[in-house]
Formats: sequence, C-alpha cells, structure tokens
Amino acid sequence: MGKYAKVNTDVPGPKSQALLEKRKKYVPKGISNGCLAFAKNAKGALIEDIDGNTFIDFAGAIGTINVGHSHPKVVKAIQEQAENFIHTGFNVFLYDSYIELAEKLIELAPGDFPKQAAFFNSGAEAVENAVKIARKYTKRQGIISFTRGFHGRTLMTMTMTSKVKPYKYEFGPFAPEVYRAPYPYIYRRPDGMKEEQYSQYVIEQFENFLITDVDPNTIAAVVMEPVQGEGGFIIPDKAFVQRVRELCSQYGILFVADEIQTGFGRTGRYFAIDHFDVVPDLITISKSLAAGVPISGVIGRAEIMDAASPGEIGGTYAGSPLGCKAALAVLDIIESENLNNRAQEIGKKIMDKFNELESRFEQVDGSRGLGAMCAFEIVKDKKSKAPDKEAVGRIIEEAQNRGLLLLSAGIYSNVIRILVPLVITDEQLEEGLTILEQSIETVLEKQHV
Ligand SMILES: Cc1ncc(COP(=O)(O)O)c(C=O)c1O
Repeated sequence: MGKYAKVNTDVPGPKSQALLEKRKKYVPKGISNGCLAFAKNAKGALIEDIDGNTFIDFAGAIGTINVGHSHPKVVKAIQEQAENFIHTGFNVFLYDSYIELAEKLIELAPGDFPKQAAFFNSGAEAVENAVKIARKYTKRQGIISFTRGFHGRTLMTMTMTSKVKPYKYEFGPFAPEVYRAPYPYIYRRPDGMKEEQYSQYVIEQFENFLITDVDPNTIAAVVMEPVQGEGGFIIPDKAFVQRVRELCSQYGILFVADEIQTGFGRTGRYFAIDHFDVVPDLITISKSLAAGVPISGVIGRAEIMDAASPGEIGGTYAGSPLGCKAALAVLDIIESENLNNRAQEIGKKIMDKFNELESRFEQVDGSRGLGAMCAFEIVKDKKSKAPDKEAVGRIIEEAQNRGLLLLSAGIYSNVIRILVPLVITDEQLEEGLTILEQSIETVLEKQHV
C-alpha cells in the first residue's frame, strides 16, 4: 500500500462486483472495460472507487484528462454554465463561448494565415467533418490515412483506422476512397537497417505509394497523427512528416493533423505537429480539449473551413455550451499552470524510469517519448522483438491490484503507454512508476520460474 495508491479489496471489490453483474446483463460486451472497478470520485491524478480503493491514474481516460480530474476551474465553468443555460443549439440560438473558444484556438494553432474553427462532439466526428470539409474544398474524394493509424469507430473513421481486430473485424463493407500509406516505425525497422537510412526508406515508400496505389491528383486530404496514439505511441521522424507535407502542397492535397490524442500539452506543446515544424491545413481536436466534457473540433485555414454552405456541417449538440466553457477553462489551466513545461518534466522522469527498466529487463524494449507521451514495448526478448501481449495484460492487472491504472496500445497490443494527468505531483508520479516497476518485476520474474 502506498501513500496515494490504496487497495484494500480485490479489484473489482465487492460493491463493484455487484454492479458488474448488472453491467453484464444490461450493457453489451462490445463496449470494453479496462478496470472493472466503479468510480466514486476522481481528483487530479487519483481515482477512488466505490469500495474505497484509490488508484493513481496513468490512463487519463485515454488522454482526456491532461488538466486532471475535476479541476476546480473546469467544475466551476460547467456549474456556472448549467445555471445560465445548458443548451440552446448553436444552430438555433448563438452563445459567445463558442466564438471565444474558436478565437483562442485559432491564436494557438500553427499557421500565420486567417483560420476558423468549428466544433462537434467526439473525436471521430471531428475527423468525419475534416474529411467532409476537405472534400468540399478540393472537390476530390480520396483520403489517405496511415498504417497503424486510429481515427475512430464511425464508418469513415473505422475505414481510415488500421488495426483490424477489434476495430474493423466483421464490420465491412468499408467506406470507399480511403487509401492506407506507410508510416515509419523506427523500433520495428527492417533488420540491419540504420536509423538514418530508415527515414529515407519510408519516404521512398510513401512516394512510391503515390505511384502504385493512388493518383495524388484525386486525393482531398492526408490525415496523419503527428504521434500515433492507439498505434503504439510511434513518433515519426521530422523528415518524413515534412516530406509528406511537401508532397501535399505539390499535389493540392490538404494536410490534416489528427491531434485528438496528442493535443493540449501531452507532448509539451498545444499541438504535437509543432515539434515537426509543419503547418497543417486542418487540425482535428478533442479529448483533453475539455477535460472530459464531450466536445471536438476542426481548426484550419479560413478559406477551406468556409467551403461548406450553411447546414452542410454541424449537429444538434455540436460545440455545446458546457463543452465550450470547459474547454476555455482548460486553456486557462494549461497556460496558468504551465502544463506544457510540466509535460516535459514529467516526460523526462518517465523516460528515466523506462530506460532503467530497459536495462534491467530483457523483455522491456523500444521505449520512446515526446513530452509526456511515453511508451515502451514488452517483447519476448530484445533480439527477436516478438511482441508479448499476454505479459502486458498481466502487468496491467498486477498494477491495478496495486492501485495503478495503465493502458496498452499498439497493433500487437504489447505497448504500455502513459497518459497521466499533467497535474500529477512528483510524489504521486514516483509512486506510480514504482508500482509499474514492481508489477513488471512480479510478472516477468514469474515467467522464468
Ligand atoms: C488520434 C485519434 N483520433 C480519433 C479518435 C477518436 O476519438 P473518439 O473516440 O472521441 O471518437 C481517437 C481516440 O482515441 C484518437 O486517438
């Protein structure tokens, strides 16, 4: 038992167990659950369950909680908004928070040109709308996404997503005119190839793809995660991202940065694409934008954003007042609490621990990070790099039993990724990393008995 992580029962505990019976009966299994405990309270980087257990949260609702759970400024913003009005429907009756949020995000987003922003509800919906806007503007239909990319679960975004199971399996037919391009994965580059050669190799693969797979003159947009999230926290090299941007400009293709998981401080910047010195035409945002209140958006060049006619984009709840106010509070918190810098500090501490784990364990490898977006792989051994998904499952379970919430990722599900709230204290972070280490130790050492 730690100072913060406190587990006094099995996980799930008896009260959660009782609710789980109902969950099994009334909620389909297609909606998965990582931890089977039920939440009672969550503040900062800690979640308390209904059985009185407390968990250090390294999952952050899959990257939604960069400013921490129930930050007082977010709570106040939502409360005040709910007192005034909950929803008028932006299409029906305007409210100023929508405009203020658009203005603030436009100031923060890269690109020294007139921009506009439109708001929606979920990440997938933002990507859907970026595609619609891009098609409207370019009058082209083709969309390029990348191997291992993840963009959501709607028909279009599922089509653009790369992992078959569980996201696409038996859900076809898929949307037409989506093409999948190669994306670098430095850790799993061909045997014997040097890192410097690999960058050029993938660039050539991408250039060939525009010859062998699709005519670039028919493509409306390339949609790229600046760091792949669900794909395993894969950080491409700058030259690749810049070359793709260059080719987009050459062929009149729009470059869309999907910043849904990478945005709002996760990598130490408001937008991860800034690390690559690339200016996208459109950016999709959601998740940590509003600390758990559902809202998403598309920001981009005004002439592109303005291509759709009235009524062609939008939605009943799109850009809700609660979402806009929560997002404004989040932007205030990131700035006033200096969370971009904090992400760098947190990232450094996490990477120090990962490097230590890599040197201790033959099965821990491929650690990488950009800001506080950090991950490593569990493999059978460093030579074969064979993914060990089962061990990851056991490590996550072991960590949960000790009061730490962890998430896996990657096409082989063998990556452990950290999406910890950036407001975590040093002490909490250290305790969480110690639990991670102990959990790895327990699981991997048992494997050898
Ligand atoms: C990069 C990226 N795009 C899109 C999505 C889809 O967002 P949502 O689940 O809110 O639809 C996600 C969700 O994980 C994501 O990481």
